[in-house]
Amino acid sequence: MRKFALLAAVAAVATLAGYPAAQDKKDKEPDIVVPYVPTNEKVVAAMLKLAAVKEGETVYDLGCGDGRIVIAAVKDFKAKKGLGIDFNPERLKDCAESVKKAKLTPEQEKALTFKQGDVLKMTPDDFKDVDVVTMYLLPKVNDLLAPVLKKGLKPGARIVSHDFMITDWKEDKREEVRADRDHTIYLWTIKGDKK
Ligand SMILES: C[S@@+](CC[C@H](N)C(=O)[O-])C[C@H]1O[C@@H](n2cnc3c(N)ncnc32)[C@H](O)[C@@H]1O
Repeated sequence: MRKFALLAAVAAVATLAGYPAAQDKKDKEPDIVVPYVPTNEKVVAAMLKLAAVKEGETVYDLGCGDGRIVIAAVKDFKAKKGLGIDFNPERLKDCAESVKKAKLTPEQEKALTFKQGDVLKMTPDDFKDVDVVTMYLLPKVNDLLAPVLKKGLKPGARIVSHDFMITDWKEDKREEVRADRDHTIYLWTIKGDKK
């Protein structure tokens, strides 16, 4: 409950503060804005390990913040492609900084894409070639994304969520990670019959 309280409290403050700095509403602010709280690096590694990211796979982080998850997927887990999507242009600047700091090879840099967008506008088709989806969002957003992921992802694809469940989906694995605080990460694998 403490975990929910953390991100939910930030969400409440952010809403009151008109986050994100009332960026021109013309920028089509998403219906639900999850505040920016980066995942602890130890938890990033645990999430990618739990998802068993393999060489040559494609990893998407929905609401990518400073890009740390997909950068680690490409650099440390040899993913072929990492895509981070975030609605906030400030985060995309952070991603560019993170790439600079990560001391990647030119091939690794090429493997990474960051783009601005609302994850709630993604369609099943966006996920057809994706092996692993990572999320640190809120339960309501997870629940809205769940049917899109279920429809779009291929059998064997994995979803890992930091701290938040998908309501009505029984996780295949759950792990506690002790870092700056206690974190919980959840894994679901898309079944062959998609049930
Ligand atoms: C809790 S942070 C997680 C950041 C990163 N995934 C990590 O784990 O370090 C949530 C991120 O999602 C972004 N975000 C929130 N709502 C979004 C939406 N509807 N569409 C796209 N990005 C969103 C925020 O800007 C923020 O960077």
